[in-house]
Amino acid sequence: MNFTLEKSATAFAEAKRYIPGGVNSPVRSFRGVGGTPPFIAKAAGSRIYDIDGHSYIDYVGSWGPMILGHAHPEVTHELTDALTRGTSYGAPTLLETELARMITEAVPSMELVRFVNSGTEATMSVLRLARAFTKRNKIIKFAGCYHGHHDSLLVKAGSGATTLGVPDSPGVPESIAGNTITVEYNDAAGLAAVFEKQGEDIAAVIIEPVPGNMGLVLPRPGYLKQVREITEKYGALLIFDEVMSGFRVAYGGAQELYNITPDLTCLGKVIGGGLPVGAYGGRQDIMELIAPAGPVYQAGTLSGNPLAMTAGLATLRLLSHTEGFYEQVTKTTAALCTGIQAQAQKQGFHFQFHQVGTMFGLFFTDKPVYDYASAKQSDVDAFNIYFHAMLEQGVYLAPSQFEASFMSGAHSQADIDATIAASGNAFAKVAQYYSQQKA
Ligand SMILES: Cc1ncc(COP(=O)(O)O)c(C=O)c1O
Repeated sequence: MNFTLEKSATAFAEAKRYIPGGVNSPVRSFRGVGGTPPFIAKAAGSRIYDIDGHSYIDYVGSWGPMILGHAHPEVTHELTDALTRGTSYGAPTLLETELARMITEAVPSMELVRFVNSGTEATMSVLRLARAFTKRNKIIKFAGCYHGHHDSLLVKAGSGATTLGVPDSPGVPESIAGNTITVEYNDAAGLAAVFEKQGEDIAAVIIEPVPGNMGLVLPRPGYLKQVREITEKYGALLIFDEVMSGFRVAYGGAQELYNITPDLTCLGKVIGGGLPVGAYGGRQDIMELIAPAGPVYQAGTLSGNPLAMTAGLATLRLLSHTEGFYEQVTKTTAALCTGIQAQAQKQGFHFQFHQVGTMFGLFFTDKPVYDYASAKQSDVDAFNIYFHAMLEQGVYLAPSQFEASFMSGAHSQADIDATIAASGNAFAKVAQYYSQQKA
């Protein structure tokens, strides 16, 4: 098969003249897996199309938002209609109230909701709020959990930072990073030990309830409940960062799935239907500290803009009105994982397959993965071989071992079958690589 990305390579070189590294978010550069990133021309349903003329079954879904698939006709129709009414007013609209209402109904712990423009903005703002409410400064996060790129949380973050091997960024002042304590995910005893020593200084624990930024890692049974109990015991707030898992692992997010009530929640991705959006919300008594209701300042020129609200509303309406949407797509995801796993086993590989709802992930290691350190045991070189073999066969996976994959309602049985078949060939290449290693 002759697979080339000539046009994309030229476009990448040109992009580098004007944009640092040629991309506007590091992991898009393919630094982790090597090679040229296909430049994308368009997307529809389960597929994306590059400027070299290839079509791919897409399991990135813009890193999570596209749960209905790309260019869903109803979302597109609503957006086109909204465009004719102007793109931003900087004044309140009915759309914002309606989307906030839908979110509070889906995620009851979010009694009040504030819209922002990205997940990063949501987690940044929520920390200020938590600090103001508790009058404490320290924050606990978990190794390998990514919450966006602002200073307080760019410490032992996963995602692009893991892929590029720069977990802590230059430019983050020690005085800020010093207020962030990092604990291992899935280790309740470790968390309790930190609280025993410093409990009175800790404003909040921020957690991806289902981490998707060190690859997909699952909480051990009872773990999230223990985290809730520990935070409650010490009067610290529990923040669920559901930017990725919200409206993704279930309509009500991971907190619905695991039946845990956090104090505050961050959302993004799905609630913007593919447009830039973020949100944070939670207990009314805490949220009422936000300006103009209260003294904690936070604002945004384009926050709650009518296009993002329209796409979000159209998406949530479709998700909530489509009978059995999550059950169906979860089943499709399970079928895909089972099929890929069987292909891996044919080659004698006992890799780790994780799935929750419509998210899934595969670690190239035969040892269990439950935190950042165990995720890092994966064979990245083997993953990269698999990744490129899949790409060449028209399957677009996240270009890093340390990212989750996403299913959409637009993926068909034919897509699943094609992906499983492609995996068989890709694992055969990995097997070849291992036998060359041994030789
Ligand atoms: C859990 C989580 N929190 C926060 C963010 C940051 O969101 P954004 O990229 O919209 O700033 C991400 C992005 O992937 C995320 O996965």
